[in-house]
Amino acid sequence: MVDVILGLQWGDEGKGKIVDFFAPSYDVIARFQGGPNAGHTLYVNGKKIVLHQIPSGIFRANKINLIGNGVVLDPVILRKECESVAALGVDYKKSLFISERAHLILPTHRAIDRASEASKGNDKIGSTLKGISPAYMDKTGRNGLRVGDLLDKNFISKYIKLRLKHQKLLDNFSFTEDITSWEEEFFESIEFLKTIPIVNGEYFINDAIRDGKKILAEGAQGSMLDVDFGTFPYVTSSSTITAGVCNGLGIAPHLIGDVIGITKAYCTRVGSGPFPTELHDLIGDEIRENGKEFGSTTGRPRRCGWIDLVALKYACMINGVTKIVMTKADVLDSLKTLSVCESYLINGEVTSQIPFQMDRLKIEPVYKNFKGWEQSITEIHEFTALPVEMKTYIEYINSNLGINVHYISNGPGTDQIIMAE
Ligand code: GDP
Ligand code: IMO
Ligand code: MG
Repeated sequence: MVDVILGLQWGDEGKGKIVDFFAPSYDVIARFQGGPNAGHTLYVNGKKIVLHQIPSGIFRANKINLIGNGVVLDPVILRKECESVAALGVDYKKSLFISERAHLILPTHRAIDRASEASKGNDKIGSTLKGISPAYMDKTGRNGLRVGDLLDKNFISKYIKLRLKHQKLLDNFSFTEDITSWEEEFFESIEFLKTIPIVNGEYFINDAIRDGKKILAEGAQGSMLDVDFGTFPYVTSSSTITAGVCNGLGIAPHLIGDVIGITKAYCTRVGSGPFPTELHDLIGDEIRENGKEFGSTTGRPRRCGWIDLVALKYACMINGVTKIVMTKADVLDSLKTLSVCESYLINGEVTSQIPFQMDRLKIEPVYKNFKGWEQSITEIHEFTALPVEMKTYIEYINSNLGINVHYISNGPGTDQIIMAE
């Protein structure tokens, strides 16, 4: 069986920590989409680590970590990441495997991402500028190069052909930056990449399932950034939802078991695009400060707001969520009052559905207010010891979503997690 952990909001829900927490119960941890736009934070012996491409099971002993075919891979970033996990004692050559079908992010993809964003002016997506969208465009446009192509003796000529295509695009954007050093790094890094086991991911994972191994699929980004169901066009370029696990690893839908959806106790978004419950006031600033809400990949301040049950319910529906993990509950410790968005008011009509094009509509969130718990919960280990106000908050969310919060994370540390009753 394949269980899934994914984000239900706009990313940064705490997937890294939660995957690391659950990893001991699994044999294989696999990334199925996205690329180095992801920044997954976890703590190893008190040291903060941010992973961009390597699955978050890498620090757990005797686990296999697979980068699946649905991922777009930047060899330069991978090499740096491998070096940093090796410095912490990880023998990645034994525990990291890469699908030959994963597409490569080329230096020119990064250049096109930059040039394209710059050309959009005020309409920019707020991309992480890691080359994600151009790499996925080349995949669906049937031009991209895959990890398996690195082993082909014609790789260089394929690279030059694609690079010429990219140069035309860059010329159209009037992009003049010299990327020679990026290309040098890229070619050094692909030699490094070839030293990591490159496998046929779909046989690799299906053989593991047949042998009774337990698989954990680790999502990147969040459901509201999904290319089909997110707040298009302010989304990423991959399928971030449960369906993406099948495409991104090569497994059949009936093999999916639990879908563990992660939500913060509030909501954040980084980059442009609609965010109905965003707070532009001191409470928003307080949440950002308490939650250290600055991007793990880009360092940008994250936009902060109240939890949005309309979006969460939608995310639970499209993902088939079976269990919820609520993270960063401790970030709300100091607040007097909490609000929960239970519906939207659009053109005078109340709805509890996500509309087609959120960015063109004026959406007023309809809130239900709750009393805050106004005490620190970071040292609590038992559900019974949680403040009654917090239990009321969670019970309301459970009943509204029809799915229960199974775990509550009350701090960034791996041991700061409480099982709900
Ligand atoms: P991811 O992309 O979903 O893995 O999330 P990020 O790592 O980008 O952002 C989550 C941030 O919140 C990281 O800095 C985590 O260390 C931190 N974090 C995770 N869970 C908790 C929690 O329960 N409480 C607090 N205060 N921080 C948390
Ligand atoms: P993790 O896995 C939060 C956002 C960007 C931008 C949009 C498109 O750490 O949760 P892209 O670079 O993919 O073309 O950017 O998506 N974005 C994320 N926001 N967390 C992420 O990943 C994100 N990955 C992309 O900010 O708005
Ligand atoms: Mg992140």
